[in-house]
Amino acid sequence: MTVREKDKKYIANTYNRFQPVLVSGSGAVVKDEDGKVYIDMGSGIGVNVFGYSDPEWAAAVAKQASLLQHTSNLYYTEPCVKLAEMLCAATGMDKVFFGNSGAEANECAVKVARKYAADNYGPERHVILTLSNSFHGRTLTTLSATGQEHYHELFQPLTPGFRHVCAGDMEGLERELKKGDVAALLMECVQGEGGVIPVDPEWALQAEQLLNEYGALLMIDEVQTGNGRTGALYAYMNYGLRPDVVTTAKGLGGGLPIGAALMSSKVSGVLGFGDHGSTFGGNPVACAGACSVIGRIDEKLLSEVRRKGKWLTEFFGALPGVRSVSGMGLMIGIQTKRPAGEIVRECVDNGVLCLTAKDRVRLLPPLTISDGEMKKAAEIIASAIGAY
Ligand SMILES: Cc1ncc(COP(=O)(O)O)c(C=O)c1O
Repeated sequence: MTVREKDKKYIANTYNRFQPVLVSGSGAVVKDEDGKVYIDMGSGIGVNVFGYSDPEWAAAVAKQASLLQHTSNLYYTEPCVKLAEMLCAATGMDKVFFGNSGAEANECAVKVARKYAADNYGPERHVILTLSNSFHGRTLTTLSATGQEHYHELFQPLTPGFRHVCAGDMEGLERELKKGDVAALLMECVQGEGGVIPVDPEWALQAEQLLNEYGALLMIDEVQTGNGRTGALYAYMNYGLRPDVVTTAKGLGGGLPIGAALMSSKVSGVLGFGDHGSTFGGNPVACAGACSVIGRIDEKLLSEVRRKGKWLTEFFGALPGVRSVSGMGLMIGIQTKRPAGEIVRECVDNGVLCLTAKDRVRLLPPLTISDGEMKKAAEIIASAIGAY
């Protein structure tokens, strides 16, 4: 049996995969089992920020794997402490909880918000507001947080205590806050799965102020937008926001599973012994890889992300087959006249991997993609978009 046949037989049917069986990669380029090469403009959905098999990342991971691969959270280890220190130094946050995915990071944020509100105001203050069209994960609680009905339909009853507001609707937000039961707002600065839609910066700043007035927390989901993707270390920095909790994952690990909830000094004392935990959270190998990622996201790299993002936005914005281009940095959504799914399939045939988000072609290339690779990939995507 081929890999594809075995996958169909043994793997749960939750993924509708493209044809290539990928075997190796370097930088922005990945090779399939037949030796065909692809420029990857999706980087494993925003994970491989330094591309495939980045030597520095791979060396950090291999070194840690040969020293100590896992201990449990009953003991101290250095890589997770080092990573937490780096994250706090870079963001001004106070403490970090490590899990293994974006959904787990958001689960932690929800627990922090619920306990903070219960401790300070009483248990009736437990509602988490999220934005319509948001995406926060696939666990039942993060699915409940996700503001898109179609994810909810098959999995009732959901976790109670979530309500959704529209980005940009200040009156709607205040109406919800006035009910007196809101613990926090959790939101993405750029809605990734929702179609690469940035929230309005003015609204975001006003929302932060309003939340403060009502004693509710601002929690930013940086699972997709974080770790350099938008041209800042975290997207909230582009907005000038001062969140109480920041969640992140994906690019943080550079290719190994890790999630983190960063807590400001206001909430960093909320969780005590036994309130939360994870067998693998803070795993030394994942954290060693993440240290190598975070240690290299500097202003030079970020300005390159902004420059390349601007180039891609202008390039696609000028095509007749494109209705609009949205996004921030190297997180780009292209609204096309031809259906996005068809474009992405044709790109695979022509040696470029990219993604969709709702009705858009979504690009999340490695942050270190070369200009040559980026321009070559852009030409191939443009020809699939067509003239229309
Ligand atoms: C904004 C956002 N939050 C949370 C998640 C869930 O992350 P994970 O798949 O690592 O659980 C995602 C995944 O796409 C995401 O984009």
